Amino acid sequence: MTVLDITQHDSTGARAGDKLKGRVAFVTGGTRGIGAAICRSLASQGATLAAGYAGNDEAARRFRDGFAATYGTPVSIHTGNVGDPHDCRRTIDEVIAMHGRLDILVNNAGITIDKTVLKLSDDDWFKVLNVNTGQVWGVNGGLDM
Ligand SMILES: NC(=O)c1ccc[n+]([C@@H]2O[C@H](COP(=O)([O-])OP(=O)(O)OC[C@H]3O[C@@H](n4cnc5c(N)ncnc54)[C@H](OP(=O)(O)O)[C@@H]3O)[C@@H](O)[C@H]2O)c1
Repeated sequence: MTVLDITQHDSTGARAGDKLKGRVAFVTGGTRGIGAAICRSLASQGATLAAGYAGNDEAARRFRDGFAATYGTPVSIHTGNVGDPHDCRRTIDEVIAMHGRLDILVNNAGITIDKTVLKLSDDDWFKVLNVNTGQVWGVNGGLDM
């Protein structure tokens, strides 16, 4: 078993090792926040990176361009909603088509709608469950993986 070091190394592209050389990692929600830090850490250990995002194209492009400039290896970016099983399959297929394989999947993307239960609408409740756990996929026709 490979033990990964997911501490955030600096963003100067410093190499922490080659433990993940030849491995392809897909980080959902990888273009911003914690996911972007995970991408940097995995790249600093030699992995080839793919990052998912929901729809903020500008932030994703900024991340991709900065990443290539810093690490010398490109990161591919893939838009899709992790709460939608069809988007999940499509983005996974995109990553494999682009990089030839997929070794590491980091299910990082998630949302919070920070209200007390009494103030949370049914739509918000199901949105959080759908994105964070996929538990309500069955309501929309089931998961046929
Ligand atoms: N930050 C915290 O203090 C904290 C604490 C506990 C747990 N967490 C969890 O850690 C994870 C990352 O948190 P964060 O603060 O780094 O989040 P963030 O900054 O809000 O992350 C945004 C990233 O997730 C993507 N994303 C959001 N909803 C998505 C969806 N439905 N499908 C696909 N991608 C989606 C965004 O894409 P766009 O740029 O296109 O919107 C972006 O790439 C989340 O699961 C969060 O719940 C965070």
